[in-house]
Amino acid sequence: MITIDSLTKKYGRTTVVDGVSFVARPGRVTGFLGPNGAGKSTTMRMVVGLTKPTSGSSTVTGRPYAALANPGREIGVMLDASAQHAGRTGREILTIVQQMLGLPGRRVEEMLDLVSLTPAEADRRVGNYSLGMRQRLGIASALIGDPGVLMLDEPANGLDPAGIRWMRDLLRDFADRGGTVLLSSHLLREVEVIADDIVMIGHGRVVCEGTKADLVRSLGTVARADDTAALRRALHASGVDTDVTDEGTVTTSAEPAHVGHVAFRAGVALTELRTADGGLEDMFLELTADTQREPTPSRKNRRERKAA
Ligand SMILES: Nc1ncnc2c1ncn2[C@@H]1O[C@H](COP(=O)(O)OP(=O)(O)OP(=O)(O)O)[C@@H](O)[C@H]1O
Ligand SMILES: [Mg+2]
Repeated sequence: MITIDSLTKKYGRTTVVDGVSFVARPGRVTGFLGPNGAGKSTTMRMVVGLTKPTSGSSTVTGRPYAALANPGREIGVMLDASAQHAGRTGREILTIVQQMLGLPGRRVEEMLDLVSLTPAEADRRVGNYSLGMRQRLGIASALIGDPGVLMLDEPANGLDPAGIRWMRDLLRDFADRGGTVLLSSHLLREVEVIADDIVMIGHGRVVCEGTKADLVRSLGTVARADDTAALRRALHASGVDTDVTDEGTVTTSAEPAHVGHVAFRAGVALTELRTADGGLEDMFLELTADTQREPTPSRKNRRERKAA
């Protein structure tokens, strides 16, 4: 478990992390999302004592990071996969970590195997590694101490599609075995697939937080029917408000199951039924709009553009 309590970081008069609080729980993958410069890396650095908070505190498995006797066996961390000595080989870097943590030598081979770095690659200097290879080595260093908690900053950076799938499976498995995973990303899509819980941050502040299931549910439902008017009448009769887009799509805050049942009872054939289109991404863009570098078209504008 990672507990973050009102962490704040100011550089001069600029507040880059502003009272951030959340908990990353065991058995779950927590996605820490925010646009570039939102304060994700700074928050993570504060958790492991690399950046001193202006105020607030955090704990890992119930204790401040500095109070952990052998931190590498409690929390695996990957903050900057490129921050390795370029002149050392991957195997040397892992061996240093293995010795520092007092682990058996075989852990190095086990980790190389786990992250699919071949013996030849392991003996190359890290300076010549591709970004994806560095990420794999970073994951290996994070996992070598068999920690119960993982904290990874943008772990999917530089991985190819197969690598992203591999990383997802690895993190899912880690959480399913009771581990705590906190991972950051500026890409919603990357996190959406794997996260159980989502924390969105913009301008150093948490703008939205919850289980992915609740967030998706809160976005409502999109439905299409052969007879749009009949569907809307039936939904209204069941006490649910609806909206209809120019394309004839019915939107409602009710859950898809409710819409399906109402339509069935009313004898209305549905031709489409799903949670709101791209909903989480829209929510992410809107909630963090003032920190985006690009202007964000509102949902309505987008709909108008589509209709045009
Ligand atoms: N040492 C520092 N001195 C001054 N400002 C800093 C320092 N470190 C970070 N910042 C500022 O803090 C803000 C948050 O940076 P941070 O790296 O935490 O963002 P991020 O969410 O990780 O972004 P990205 O998605 O680009 O990695 C940025 O505006 C950055 O310029
Ligand atoms: Mg960052």
